Formats: sequence, C-alpha cells, structure tokens
Amino acid sequence: MALRNIRELGDDVLRKKSREIQEMTPKIKELIEDMFETMYEADGVGLAAPQVGVLKRLVVIDTGEGKPLVMINPEILERSGSQTGYEGCLSVPGKSGIVTRPNYVKARAKDENMKTYIVEGTELLARAICHEVDHLDGKMYVDFVEGGLVDTSNGEDEE
Ligand code: NI
Repeated sequence: MALRNIRELGDDVLRKKSREIQEMTPKIKELIEDMFETMYEADGVGLAAPQVGVLKRLVVIDTGEGKPLVMINPEILERSGSQTGYEGCLSVPGKSGIVTRPNYVKARAKDENMKTYIVEGTELLARAICHEVDHLDGKMYVDFVEGGLVDTSNGEDEE
C-alpha cells in the first residue's frame, strides 16, 4: 500500500466526470487499498478516486460506525429529509462550510468483489455518500456552500 497525493481545489481533475469501472483488476484493488490508507492518514471519512487523480467511479467511506465502505459505480436511489451542517473536504484543506444535504439516502454500488449491494445511511453517512458521489461528477461542496467557507484549524471531519 502507498499514500497517494490528494489533489486540491483548482486542480482540473477534480472537475471532470469519472468513468464507470467495468471489472476488478489488480490495479484497482491496489487503488482501493491506497485510497483507504490515504484517507485514514488525512483523518478523512471519505475519499473519491478523482481526489487522487484517477477518473474512475470509486469512493471509499469510513464514518467510524459500521464497516468501511467500498463503493464502485455508486448510484443514489432515494433521498429524503434534510440536514444542514458543516462539511469539509480533503481537497479543500483547512476549510469547512455549511451545506444542506438529505438526512437519508439509499444507494446501490458494487463492492471490491464487484458484488452489487444496497446501503442506507442517515446523518453523517448520508452526507458522506452525497459528497463523495458528487466528486465523481466533478462537483465540490464549495459550489453550494451556504454563507462562505470558514477556516477550521480545529479539526472538523473532512470528507
Ligand atoms: Ni471531498
């Protein structure tokens, strides 16, 4: 495993649309391991492949509750309710901002064995899924932050 360089806001790769993964390969397995390592090292709860410069529809999430998620070709099937709170991103270090997200989402994805599964999440997990899936379409939370970005050197969770 190896740490990967996290791309930051302003890098064009973060604004591109990622492509679906058709089959698991040793290279993608290694990418998944590296993404977890990179995310944990940076104290994040989620990381999307474009954030490490790979335009593939793959995200990893670990909110600290339940088991870590590998989401390949994720699709959000249902959203409901609403939550408004601070959100950060490993590609926008040292900042956070208020974003309104659904309080519940149901999503379909494939795991590291390309087995399709359904995940339901509320609160932080719902927020993380929405945030990471946005990355696959080149969207960043700074595009819809409410009231501007604030400095957070005091350690908000970053996604
Ligand atoms: Ni992010």
